[in-house]
Amino acid sequence: MVYITRKETFSAAHKLSRQDWSEEKNREVFGKCSNPNWHGHNYILWVTVKGEVNSETGFVTNLSDVSLVLKTYILDKLDHRNLDMDVDFMKGKYSSTEVLAIEIWKQIEKPIHALGCALHCVKVQETEKNTVEYFGS
Ligand code: NI
Repeated sequence: MVYITRKETFSAAHKLSRQDWSEEKNREVFGKCSNPNWHGHNYILWVTVKGEVNSETGFVTNLSDVSLVLKTYILDKLDHRNLDMDVDFMKGKYSSTEVLAIEIWKQIEKPIHALGCALHCVKVQETEKNTVEYFGS
């Protein structure tokens, strides 16, 4: 089994807050991400897929095909958008990096499988200091 990874970047706005909490409590729990007037992050996305090496190509799968899946299902929907307002698969969900990683997984699991490999990890970096990894469960 070989693991290969495609790295992509996108920029998006969001806000983390609960309407049933006071502004103080939201600030206490969510910090700068609770800013009522939104803010943005330059996200980094790593998607790792796994499979056996094809003896004809020497590839697990063609990473340009993985890139096209990410462009179609993720980047075209997230890049320069508001995660809380503009993105169909994030509607009604918290735009934490954890939830984002899980929802990205759900969007790409089948199209990645269709490439003849399996999704292994979705890793999302929100800031240089914070990274989330999701392995499907
Ligand atoms: Ni934030």
